[in-house]
Amino acid sequence: MIPLSVPNLKGNELKYVTQALKEGWVSTGGDFIKKFEGHIGDYLKVEQSVAVQSGTAGLHLSLILSGVTSSNEVIVPTLTFIAAVNPVKYLGAEPVFMDCDDSLTIDVEKLESFCQENCYVTDDGLVNKKTKKIIKAIIVVHVFGNMANMVKIMEIADKYKLIVIEDATEALGTYYTKGKYKGSFAGTIGDFGVYSFNGNKIITTGGGGMLIAKDKSLADRAKYLSTQAKDDPLYYVHQDIGYNYRMTNLQAAMGVAQLEQLEHFIQTKKITMKCTRKK
Ligand SMILES: Cc1ncc(COP(=O)(O)O)c(C=O)c1O
Repeated sequence: MIPLSVPNLKGNELKYVTQALKEGWVSTGGDFIKKFEGHIGDYLKVEQSVAVQSGTAGLHLSLILSGVTSSNEVIVPTLTFIAAVNPVKYLGAEPVFMDCDDSLTIDVEKLESFCQENCYVTDDGLVNKKTKKIIKAIIVVHVFGNMANMVKIMEIADKYKLIVIEDATEALGTYYTKGKYKGSFAGTIGDFGVYSFNGNKIITTGGGGMLIAKDKSLADRAKYLSTQAKDDPLYYVHQDIGYNYRMTNLQAAMGVAQLEQLEHFIQTKKITMKCTRKK
């Protein structure tokens, strides 16, 4: 048996958290947050990353930024942890469950035939024939680190006007080794990508997440919404409903230390898998 992941805190976690404590930056300000975002961005080869409180918060923000409302539907896989689906319901939208195949990720053939046979395309987007609601987005879950077929999913999304949110909460470190997306990491291909640093993930900050957005203005907006949508720090002027979703500096301090060891964690996991297969 390969455990999902047991936290390994043998790196610089204590040193960096102690540094954050000594400097007095324990909440949502402080250098470790910027450092963690920067280091994740460098690792994933992306420009925009926003550190948040959890993967769930990242998914919720992605759906808000996709413009999902209570009049929409969102395609989700049948095989996933429930946190990939709950944020759809937070917005009053309806999940449309799509079967998964042997890769444990969304079955792209079923996805395509659903879009073709059960929906039609309008200027406003893809309409579900049965409910007459617009299907705004698809949440693709790279479950257990298995990359879904992103080549096909992006083709389908393009054809049927779907926004792609990659739930890469379980897939930090997974990337294409060949083909169109060679070198691209899970979570960096769609419009949004979300990672989780919960205790059972490949790296952990205790609780935490990262949101990647292709569009810089959307990443900036994610940061704004995650810090209570504060327009004016002095007079507390708000034009929008915000959230307390920003990662803390203490979590980020742990994240920086954990990220330094990511490659080692991945190699260890690969060796464990090889040994388990031989038994
Ligand atoms: C597939 C999936 N989606 C979403 C989440 C939510 O992440 P978090 O626990 O950081 O909110 C998790 C992990 O817990 C997950 O496994």
